[in-house]
Amino acid sequence: MNNKNIEFNINILLSKESNPSQLRQAAIDLKNLLTEMSEMDENKPGVMLTLDTPSGRATGTYGAAMCTIDYMRTRRFMQGVVSAVTELLKTHSSVKLLYAGCGPFALLVLPLTLLFTPAQVQIQCIELNTTSIGCFQKLISKLNVKAFFKEVICDDAAEIKLQQADAYDMMITETMMHALKNEAQVAIIINLMNQCRKDIVLIPHEVQVQFACIAHDSSLLNKVFRSQLPLLHLNKQTAQEFSNWLQHRNDVLLQKTIDLSNDVYHEGDKLSYLTTIHVYGRYSLFINESGLTVPVAIQPLQKINPGQSIQFQYRMGSKPGFVYEFI
Ligand SMILES: C[S@@+](CC[C@H](N)C(=O)[O-])C[C@H]1O[C@@H](n2cnc3c(N)ncnc32)[C@H](O)[C@@H]1O
Repeated sequence: MNNKNIEFNINILLSKESNPSQLRQAAIDLKNLLTEMSEMDENKPGVMLTLDTPSGRATGTYGAAMCTIDYMRTRRFMQGVVSAVTELLKTHSSVKLLYAGCGPFALLVLPLTLLFTPAQVQIQCIELNTTSIGCFQKLISKLNVKAFFKEVICDDAAEIKLQQADAYDMMITETMMHALKNEAQVAIIINLMNQCRKDIVLIPHEVQVQFACIAHDSSLLNKVFRSQLPLLHLNKQTAQEFSNWLQHRNDVLLQKTIDLSNDVYHEGDKLSYLTTIHVYGRYSLFINESGLTVPVAIQPLQKINPGQSIQFQYRMGSKPGFVYEFI
């Protein structure tokens, strides 16, 4: 890579020694440098536009660039990707990586171009936003890192039938919001994991969404959780199971019912979805560390009647996410 400022900020984001204010500043500086280098013009039509797909909304070029400054997200994903490639290179002479939703900067794999050679790492990007692809192509050319990248595939990663799916050793996608709502992460992982080899390394390794009930009288600092129950685990194994399931159920990925009429729950309790992301190895994102793991509030509990339950469904389609109903 031939830009010392970009290199400097990536190294801060990767370093164990960096403190939160250094990380924050590095992420902002990196976003500004990459925006300039990729010639992203915020005034051009198309740069702000999100794209609606049959599997969810795709963040626009500007929005994808802004994800850079969610600094803990950027840091942990970059660290996880570097760690996974380092691990794979112990047993493989080269690593073939599939990156679904690379955005304008292919941000999460940029550190690889500092640490490895093109003979060690080959990256296939898939991106459906042509404005982002234009920025990405200018960026990798100016950074002189084109040798790491195959020709980008302009397609929907939730629908694409891969050629040579067996070739990939690792797959990365960060096409999600908290509680896996609105965007296509689930559909992309189901589609791609059902084509690739079973031993592929998936990043993030697992996304978990839980239902949480926070006591109505607990303080902001000292929240009392009455219960935390798993709703959805998204990983390689469940991607396989979900795919089989969806052949029969179409758009309902899962359904869970929780009995509210026991002594655990009380009127006024705050209900929410909690998201945690295990990126890879020792790198995770816990509650409130990133925009992706901010709790999503559900309406507070009303008076609970005998036998009352709450039923959750995770629905696929153009607006994926959880829905719930008191029954
Ligand atoms: C949240 S941005 C992340 C960009 C970059 N990977 C990063 O982490 O900074 C998600 C990117 O995925 C792309 N994307 C979303 N859904 C997609 C789909 N179904 N197929 C291909 N790309 C998709 C969006 O266009 C956007 O560029």
